Amino acid sequence: MPNEEMMALARAVMSRAYAPYSGFRVGAVLRGHNGRLYAGCNIENVAYPQGTCAEVAAVAVMVADGERRIAEVLVMGEGDSLVTPCGGCRQHLREFAADTVPVHLCDPAGVRRTVTIGELLPLAFGPDHLAGSHHGG
Ligand code: THU
Repeated sequence: MPNEEMMALARAVMSRAYAPYSGFRVGAVLRGHNGRLYAGCNIENVAYPQGTCAEVAAVAVMVADGERRIAEVLVMGEGDSLVTPCGGCRQHLREFAADTVPVHLCDPAGVRRTVTIGELLPLAFGPDHLAGSHHGG
């Protein structure tokens, strides 16, 4: 289970989401292997396809800090439906997270369900597929 610091950070970052077009605010918090927390929110744009998901925003903050390994993921959204990372976000998370990494699917009240990266993206095409094959061709 995520600790209260992680939950509080998700609530805070979700409240700062820029989602004027969908009205659907999302917050994501990653725990790096270094123990630090990295938060991101969705940032929409009037040119709709240019919008950024919360998970990708959090990954950017983590990588910019020098961390490349995710130990734990928390995604928070509002509403009745369980908020799960979109397909693109699953691949972004998989780049820096092992199949076993837990993903807590939350609303502001708490965790609704916990799954793993491997459950969200089975048979993933991951960085291991290209390991040792950087020889062009
Ligand atoms: N959204 C996320 O930030 N993460 C997801 O995994 C699901 C979708 C955002 C994108 C858009 O700003 C809004 O939710 C509605 O799709």
